[in-house]
Formats: sequence, C-alpha cells, structure tokens
Amino acid sequence: CLFFQENQAMTLNETADSSWVLKAQCRGIRVQVVKPKTGILMLNMGGPEKLADVHDFLLRLFMDTDLMKLPVQNKLGPFIAKRRTPKIQEQYSKIGGGSPIKHWTSMQGEGMVKLLDKMSPETAPHKFYIGFRYVNPLTEEAIEEMEKDGVERAVAFTQYPQYSCSTTGSSLNAIYRYYSNRGDRPKMRWSVIDRWPTHPLLVECFAEHISNELLKFPEAKRDDVVILFSAHSLPLSVVNRGDPYPQEVGATVQRVMERLGHCNPYRLVWQSRVGPMAWLGPQTDEVIKGLCERGKKNILLVPIAFTSDHIETLHELDIEYGQVLGEECGVENIRRAESLNGNPLFMKALADLVQSHLKSNEPCSRQLTLRCPLCTNPTCGETKAFFANQKLS
Ligand code: FES
Repeated sequence: CLFFQENQAMTLNETADSSWVLKAQCRGIRVQVVKPKTGILMLNMGGPEKLADVHDFLLRLFMDTDLMKLPVQNKLGPFIAKRRTPKIQEQYSKIGGGSPIKHWTSMQGEGMVKLLDKMSPETAPHKFYIGFRYVNPLTEEAIEEMEKDGVERAVAFTQYPQYSCSTTGSSLNAIYRYYSNRGDRPKMRWSVIDRWPTHPLLVECFAEHISNELLKFPEAKRDDVVILFSAHSLPLSVVNRGDPYPQEVGATVQRVMERLGHCNPYRLVWQSRVGPMAWLGPQTDEVIKGLCERGKKNILLVPIAFTSDHIETLHELDIEYGQVLGEECGVENIRRAESLNGNPLFMKALADLVQSHLKSNEPCSRQLTLRCPLCTNPTCGETKAFFANQKLS
C-alpha cells in the first residue's frame, strides 16, 4: 500500500477459513488487503509490449522445444531470432509499437474476477494472474507470485479456446517443469481448463461480432459476403502426430455458423505460415486471391483461434490482407470482425468457465489425459500425469 507510514497501525489476522486479512489505518483511510483463495492463471503466448522486447520474445519462441523442434536448436534458435527481429519490429511499429495482448488480458481478467466474486462466493476472493510463454509476465514468475500470495486453489486457464500441444500444451509443460526443476511439490492445489472451443458464450460473442460486421457491408452485397474464419496454421508434422487443434477450431466454426443460422457461405482457412515446411492449408491469402478470381469479391475475415488482438489480426489480416492484398486482387469489400477484446459478454464467458470448472472438481478434461498418438515428447506425458493426479479435496 502506497499510503503506509512507519507509525501506522497494521494488523494481520488469520481468519477461520485460513485466509488472512491485512488491515491498516492510514490518513483516515481504512485499507484492507485480502489474501486470494483462488488464483486463476491466464495462459497465453504473449507479445512484445515495445519494440525493444521483440528480440527476447522471438528468442524464447524459437528456443521452445514444445512449440518447434529445430536442428541444433540452441544455435539455430538464437540465429533465427536475431535475423527476424528487424522485420518483426517493423510490423509492430505499424500497429502502434507493441502488442496489446497484456492490456486486453488484464482487462478480461479484472472483469472475470469481479464477476466470479459475486457468482462464486465460496471460492472467493479470486485473483487473476497472467502467465505468458515468451514475454513478461512469464508463466514461471506468475506461479512464484501465486505461491507467495498464499493462493490455495490454482486454476491454469488457457486463453486459447482450442487446444494445441504447441500452444496450451507448451504452457502446461512450463508449469510442470517449474515444479520438477525446483524438486518441490506445489503448495497450491492445481487444476486446468485446457480447452473451451464450443462454450455457448464464446460462440455467442463470435456470432455477435460477425453480425455487427456484416451490417457494415453495403446492403446489396451482404448476402454475397463469404465469411472466412482464419486461424493460425500449424506445420503438418504437428497435425499428423495427432494434434487436436484443427478439429477443435472446426468445432468452434460449426457452432458459430449454427448460431448464425448459416446466413452466409463460409470456409475455415489458415494463416501465418512461415518457413519451407508443409503447413496446414488452405492459406488465408491464397483463398482471398482465389475467391476474387472466381468473382467472390466481398469477404469478411474472422479471427477464430485468438480472442484478443495481436500482430496476426492487426498486421497480417488488417494490413497485409485487408489493405495490400485486397487492393491487388480487386476486392470490392473486405472487412474483419472485431476481436473479442473488451466485450463484457466475453468476460462473462471466462467467469462462467471458471465457475463451472471449480464446481466440477475435475483436475482437467478427459481429453487432456490422452497424448497425441505419435507424440515423441516425454514431458507431455509427465505434464498430463501432473495435472490428472492433483488431489482437489
Ligand atoms: S505432442 Fe501432443 S501430447 Fe505430446
């Protein structure tokens, strides 16, 4: 508390339910800090907040063996990170100099815990923590903070609605490694919300944002609009070892289109391919070109696998495809549905997911317990056992 002075009265009380309350009287203001009972760790990859953070972001990303396996990774990873830094910095400078993901995650977390304190008083107070994989606040730092705060019940809550071993799996492996490297058991009881591709409020939010954007097309063209759901692609080597991500992204798309009453034709397409390897397609940019060539020149892009704005929406979809490519192809109208960002209904979705998860008393989904049939990463098995074997009561 910024107001504390030496001679102020401060008391620390252990309460009946073993939470504690710090009370202090300062300048006539009564300050009360309450220990969080339930900590919710919001997991995501994160993005550089400023241009100077781009290199370290890329370095961590290219060194993440759960995300990608490179030959001599400890040499090649730093080399690629250094080589790509100027280009990626240029992209971030075009979207305002940094990623807004921490801003949006903080806003969503605040909204979520405020609702949870009301919806689930028995697990209150709730506090959210941000655990990014490649930038601060890093997952490991967030766990340390949770342990220091004396959280009793910890929920690892992936912010990727659809599960991939290279995204959510990598974050969960980081939690497992934190404890195994320390050779210590967690003081908190952990569980995980590992996927939520068809949550009704998530579907509702996407449908709402699509309907709002469709209304911005000229009325005469609205029925002609093709909806392109665009998700980050994966190397085929990841897909072919049995990663559940493509199927789960498809499930979200299906539910959203059902909610919209199949108002327009649509496709699921994949963006952000890099390097010479084969990736899951069709690629978003090639589909835009192909549609225009076939006379379908009204296109609505919908980011379906990330919930907040990031470089792939603000630069890749809006600038590279919406502006540059759209003009090259002679598109008539190309728009993008807004990301879920600060939508209060989305915060309600997050709170609802946590509340029902806590009520279920399940450590993780059944789906998390199954390794990819062709997985060769032993940590995956250890991580799954770590979460599945948590004793919650
Ligand atoms: S890569 Fe999917 S479980 Fe290991």
